[in-house]
Amino acid sequence: MEQRIIISQHLKQELAVAISECEHDKLFILFDETTHRTCWPILQHFVGLKDACPIVIPATDTHKNIDSLAYVWEQLGRNGATRHSCLINVGGGMVTDLGGFAASTFKRGINFINIPTTLLAMVDASVGGKTGINFNGLKNEIGVFSDSRFVILDTVFLKSLDDMNIRSGYAEMLKHSLISNDKMWAQLLHFNLDQPDWQELKQMVGDSVKVKQCVVEQDPHEHGIRKALNLGHTFGHAFESWSLRRSTQGDHTAILHGYAVAFGLICELYLSCLKASFPTDKMRQTVAFVRENYGILPITCDDYAELIELMHHDKKNSAGIINFTLLSDIGNIKINQTATDEEIKECLDFLREG
Ligand code: GLY
Repeated sequence: MEQRIIISQHLKQELAVAISECEHDKLFILFDETTHRTCWPILQHFVGLKDACPIVIPATDTHKNIDSLAYVWEQLGRNGATRHSCLINVGGGMVTDLGGFAASTFKRGINFINIPTTLLAMVDASVGGKTGINFNGLKNEIGVFSDSRFVILDTVFLKSLDDMNIRSGYAEMLKHSLISNDKMWAQLLHFNLDQPDWQELKQMVGDSVKVKQCVVEQDPHEHGIRKALNLGHTFGHAFESWSLRRSTQGDHTAILHGYAVAFGLICELYLSCLKASFPTDKMRQTVAFVRENYGILPITCDDYAELIELMHHDKKNSAGIINFTLLSDIGNIKINQTATDEEIKECLDFLREG
């Protein structure tokens, strides 16, 4: 089904249009505890939402699980949802992923609308039809491809987002620029994340989402070119899992997804230089930006074996071979690339030492 992405000027009006175009007998609106507290007091006064039934789940990725999903199904059923009902998801990627999956499976699928409230969800999670939950200790293990009918992007939500969550989403924007063109990349490297120009960020969010939309339209189910969106994510997912393990052992707090992707971009641009002739000066400029805006990842060479092991278990692999997306230049994408353990270690050395 076609997914319409609206860069919002007046949320009230655009949401009214989206709701009227999604024929429905009853409206439901899903929040996590945070967006319920911050967004529902505003949204409940919108005319079209007066009779909407709110459903609230606990916040954070640890609750992106089967229990929260069952709760959403249960609330839909208990409150009279039918095949013709519609669910509006208001929140970060956890809410849009879980809500999208709940909607896509309830009575074999009802319409849903995404209103992402974090930068990461705006430029990545809420667009492109990936829905799902974590299961068996694995991220996004269960899910389906299913498009929301509308995604409404209102960057006003970003003003209340903390600095680290802005940087986290921005890393995916940096990735989009690298798979797109030099102009977009240069604009991103010159943007001041310490004092964001919100108007410029709004324009950049619009451009960034178009990159994702264009890739997804060509390959919705990730058989080929959608793998471009995995740039930075082979190392990135390993860093994220490594950091999560360390945090549960009490060593430090887990890094946000976008930070892991930013460090992953350092490694994968270095690998792109090694194996695909990516221009060294563009790699160095991007690395300098990441180091300045994301700090360092506290790994040592004692962590290499564990990181390589994590990469071997990445769900992007096939036949146990670690799969990378590399670049031979900005916008020049090479999917299904491989690397030896020695090359991977060289990238990790580069990440640590520059
Ligand atoms: N997050 C990458 C994708 O949607 O394919």
